[in-house]
Amino acid sequence: MITNMKRPVNILITLIITIVMVSCWTDNKKPNFQYMPNMYEPVGYKTYGEYKGFPRQMEAMLPVSGSIPRGWIPYGYKNTPEGKALATKELKIPIEVNEENLSKGKELFNIYCAICHGKKGDGQGTLVKREKFLGIPSLADKGRNITEGDIYHVMMYGLNSMGSYASQTNEKERWQITMHALDLKSKLNGEPLWSSTQNDPTEKETTSEKAN
Ligand code: HEC
Repeated sequence: MITNMKRPVNILITLIITIVMVSCWTDNKKPNFQYMPNMYEPVGYKTYGEYKGFPRQMEAMLPVSGSIPRGWIPYGYKNTPEGKALATKELKIPIEVNEENLSKGKELFNIYCAICHGKKGDGQGTLVKREKFLGIPSLADKGRNITEGDIYHVMMYGLNSMGSYASQTNEKERWQITMHALDLKSKLNGEPLWSSTQNDPTEKETTSEKAN
């Protein structure tokens, strides 16, 4: 090949190889040359960009106080003993008690709650049996006034060593779990299933469907 160096084709090939190799040495940490910067750089502020004149010099600002995320339904009861007592007394299941909601509730209860409360709700979940967790009440605990509002409230905020389930479940799912928990409670008490006593579903609205 060296002997044939005078042939233009060879010179061209050598040149191409050289260009290809040199092109790899550019600093790839720096942005390359932009032919039309407006195609790449937004005219408005960049999300999370740093700019003077904003509080904290940051484009992203905190939502105005009182803002509600899309799809979120505000919960009117406070995370205080008084709020809990009020929810226990007056908060009622807003969705229809039917087979679909009950079986979904059972499924979710077994996923989220049974590990502590036990599939039967007797407070004998796996974590209790393995002595990893103590002080878990039976849903039929006589000393506790476990009602639909109470179960929902406890899922919203948690209670002492029990965490909140507000971020893992949506409003409808929490009511479905509540229904199943009430059935478990009646079973533990040897009473007729709670759901079998709810035979007038027409009174209930299905408003919380919207929340999902
Ligand atoms: C990590 C274990 C754990 C899990 C999981 C758990 N709980 Fe609890 N739960 C507890 C403990 C502990 C208490 C007792 C809290 C106390 O009174 O200090 C409790 C109490 C309760 C009570 C009684 C509230 C009252 O007013 O006394 C209800 C109802 C309840 N849980 C429902 C649920 C439901 C429904 C789920 C699933 C969404 C759930 N729990 C998941 C540990 C758990």
